[in-house]
Amino acid sequence: MKRIGMLTSGGDCQALNAAMRGVVKGLSNNVDELEVYGFYDGYKGLIYGEYRLLTSRDFSGILTKGGTILGSSRQPFKQMRVPDKNGLDKVEAMKQTYYKLNLDCLVILGGNGTQKTANLLREEGLNIIHLPKTIDNDIYGTDVTFGFQSAINIATDCIDCIHTTAASHNRVFIVEVMGHKVGWLTLYAGIAGGADIILLPEIPYDIDKVISAIEKRTKAGKGFTILAVAEGAISKEDAKLSKKEYKKKLENSPYPSVSYEVADLIKQRTGTEVRVTVPGHTQRGGSPTPYDRVLCSRLGAAAAEAILEDDYGYMIAMVNNKTTRVPLEKVAGKLKMVEPDCQIINEAKTMGMSFGD
Ligand code: F6P
Repeated sequence: MKRIGMLTSGGDCQALNAAMRGVVKGLSNNVDELEVYGFYDGYKGLIYGEYRLLTSRDFSGILTKGGTILGSSRQPFKQMRVPDKNGLDKVEAMKQTYYKLNLDCLVILGGNGTQKTANLLREEGLNIIHLPKTIDNDIYGTDVTFGFQSAINIATDCIDCIHTTAASHNRVFIVEVMGHKVGWLTLYAGIAGGADIILLPEIPYDIDKVISAIEKRTKAGKGFTILAVAEGAISKEDAKLSKKEYKKKLENSPYPSVSYEVADLIKQRTGTEVRVTVPGHTQRGGSPTPYDRVLCSRLGAAAAEAILEDDYGYMIAMVNNKTTRVPLEKVAGKLKMVEPDCQIINEAKTMGMSFGD
């Protein structure tokens, strides 16, 4: 008999359901009795005791379904130790729900913030298994997170569509790709979509370098230029500001996002028409790609194996194409960022792509 709780927390992505299905299939195939409690809307369900006993039916036909059958919400890690508006101690409340249901463990699917709370619950004595979800691919200790490949497909499709219209006009096009803190998605979609200029949070840009990359293309007879710009791309000047100063600058900015600021500067300096496209949350939507379905089936099965062995306190990661149990205390709170001097960046530069640096 196994009794597990499950929740999906933070921004959603395409393969959450596929991962939950993997865990449940892996368990139900190997135990006589299984009870799965699904908590609604992430940690909120665990805090306030909002859950449902799920049956195998709930996990049927969801391999290809985007979103999450449990719902999700952002419950910032910073707020976990802060009582709610009615004075409720959230951590104690989560523990009480866990003990009341007599759970063997909690399977928690989420990104960095979610992982920090998962580790906190581990420190508080709960049995935890974490599965690394995010389109941002920024979880330290795993080669890849689920959702990343599916999001690359969507962002790349967007750049591909821009390419065909770009070829008909002498314009500069900017596609703004998700990723406030890290640029993995922009980097991969940018290369896959053949962007000419890629701006990432990890490599502050110099607008002069961006302009000269555009002018170089114009001189070479190329009518258009495509930029893939991460949501969190930042100029060299802005990177010198403190976090507080930069936040203030953004609050007072006339632009909805960095791409519009870059667009305006390009227009002023080159006189070229510039268009901005923001695929936004479409990047988290739709069906998971076959790659993500396989990844989640493998991570789910590996999570089930750990649960069957009563071996807890891990993120189930993919390392060198092997599912691996990575101790949560070793990774929680760490971010996997793009190294400005890494091989893939240098290879892109060799091909003439500019990073504005
Ligand atoms: O962390 C995933 C992510 O999609 C980021 O890429 C993006 O910056 C952020 O979430 C958007 O968050 P929200 O859905 O809360 O607007």
